[in-house]
Amino acid sequence: MFKRSFKYYKSKKPLPSLEDVLDMNKSGQLLKDSKIERCFIDSKEYCHLLGLKPPGEWEIFQIVNHPGLIFVKNPFTSVGQRYWTVKCLKDYTKKPNKMNIDGSDKIIANSDFWEIAQHDRNILMSLRWTTLGYHHNWNTKHYNEAEREQFPEELKKMIEYIANQLGYTDFVAEAAIVNYYQMNSTLSGHTDHSENNLNAPLFSLSFGQTAIFLIGGKTLEEKPTSLFLRSGDIVIMSKESRLAYHAVPKIIHTEITPWKINNDCTWENDNNEMQFLVDESDWKPFGEYLEHSRINVNVRQVV
Ligand code: SIN
Repeated sequence: MFKRSFKYYKSKKPLPSLEDVLDMNKSGQLLKDSKIERCFIDSKEYCHLLGLKPPGEWEIFQIVNHPGLIFVKNPFTSVGQRYWTVKCLKDYTKKPNKMNIDGSDKIIANSDFWEIAQHDRNILMSLRWTTLGYHHNWNTKHYNEAEREQFPEELKKMIEYIANQLGYTDFVAEAAIVNYYQMNSTLSGHTDHSENNLNAPLFSLSFGQTAIFLIGGKTLEEKPTSLFLRSGDIVIMSKESRLAYHAVPKIIHTEITPWKINNDCTWENDNNEMQFLVDESDWKPFGEYLEHSRINVNVRQVV
């Protein structure tokens, strides 16, 4: 059932109907149809340096057919979206992080990927993933202490802040995979089971173009639910959904571009690192990348 849905949404000819894809921009109807439930948090706390809106404003939903699957509809400010995009492209592609293109002759020790990519579109387009913190070993599918670096401080702070607000108070961000998708990229069905601690939730953030995301059950026999993941959306896979099969069969072009600056972020003047992002000429190469790409940041607790 899972593979059949994957093939259906991946198809270019004929194009799939998107009628059944859960769209949180139509949450009113989904609530009426009992497909989702609204979750509320009562929080007055506000950590504004992380690029997030105040938690009291977040729209949080639980997907009814998938207990433990939580959806937070874009809690980022427009500058926050820019900030995390820049981190993923410019900083998280630096050593000691690992990348799929580490073996390439253009990426020699300590070279600056983003700098090189400004003059080399091929290398920019061949970026598929980076790993941070505990490096996921794609061959053994294991993590080990010998392949561990410091997890980026700001990402740890942001994810653990979100985790706390949602009640996952013990969550420790220890490993991340950043996935970079082009318009024709897909990610086939898999479960994330390499972590020692499978009780801890998994946090998945999206920036840029829209994904169709499939979430199924513990076996490939179960029919998955499809949902749109737009820029800024966060999916949390916890409890029964932690070990569910999931996939991205399609990336679709979006007209919704929440990384365009609006007035939702006057407070961000406090953070110099974010301030430069408001300058359109500094932002330009990152914005151009997002026009035809999607970035997914997938954060896990390992031990
Ligand atoms: C993953 O499962 O590793 C990525 C999911 C996504 O891109 O949304």
